[in-house]
Amino acid sequence: MAQDTFDLAALNAALGASRFAGKVHYFPSIGSTNTFAMRQADAGAADGSVYLADEQTDGRGRGAHTWESAAGAGLYVSVLLRPQLEATDALWISLGAGLAVQSAVRQVTSLEADLRWPNDLLLGKKKFCGILTELNAETGSGRAAAARVRHAVVGIGINVHQADFPAELRETATSLCMETGREWPRQELLLALLQSLENETEALTDAPEGAAQSICRRLEAGSSWIRGKRVRVEEREDGDGGFAGVTEGLDGRGFLRVRTAAGMRTVLSGGVREG
Ligand code: BTN
Repeated sequence: MAQDTFDLAALNAALGASRFAGKVHYFPSIGSTNTFAMRQADAGAADGSVYLADEQTDGRGRGAHTWESAAGAGLYVSVLLRPQLEATDALWISLGAGLAVQSAVRQVTSLEADLRWPNDLLLGKKKFCGILTELNAETGSGRAAAARVRHAVVGIGINVHQADFPAELRETATSLCMETGREWPRQELLLALLQSLENETEALTDAPEGAAQSICRRLEAGSSWIRGKRVRVEEREDGDGGFAGVTEGLDGRGFLRVRTAAGMRTVLSGGVREG
């Protein structure tokens, strides 16, 4: 593919009445779209603001990880949301975002991606998309008042055009191009992604309980990791500790349940790997 550029005017027109229309900010190069979006959110930027970059020089992943963000190779985007949600329901935003990516990739490429809880997207056994959701929530005052989400930034990185990865990622990372042998326009992926993300977040704001149940149902159907998968869970970055077991669905807040030899455990965060 010749240079895969973004046409913001066309993107905005195609977004129509979407909450994201007219709010896409593009950067040829930036440190991290998530860092920038969190700062903008603190400064009062509007719900639905989208921060998109051709390159990130300091792309961030979950935990202490970095996100490889070479110029022109991937889709690097962060979306600022101000949902009417309690902080305890925030994980649904992240899980819904994973489903939105899965749907967008299906629409554009016909590929059926797997979702590794909470929201890594895999083709075969290799990861091509990661999602970093960062939250600013009230601390909750008193027994009656539930802490609410002030804003959430959902940062999505999709490997699109990469033909290879640095040695340390080669075993675990892939791209849409490597999986299909052809190039996919990032703008089409972005448009489909924003449309799907809007559906997910609107459902969560309108009727959180029903939306959470729907996310659970779709994850059970569209992810091989939610039920019956033998996994190893690393709770600490240094690999110390952790446990192994078989996944047994999600609990009422979206956390992963794992049946271990010592009983049921709930994974609140941390790396889930095939075990
Ligand atoms: C992960 O799997 O560890 C999450 C990766 C998230 C990467 C995206 S790229 C756009 C946004 N900006 C960042 O710095 N990170 C996220």
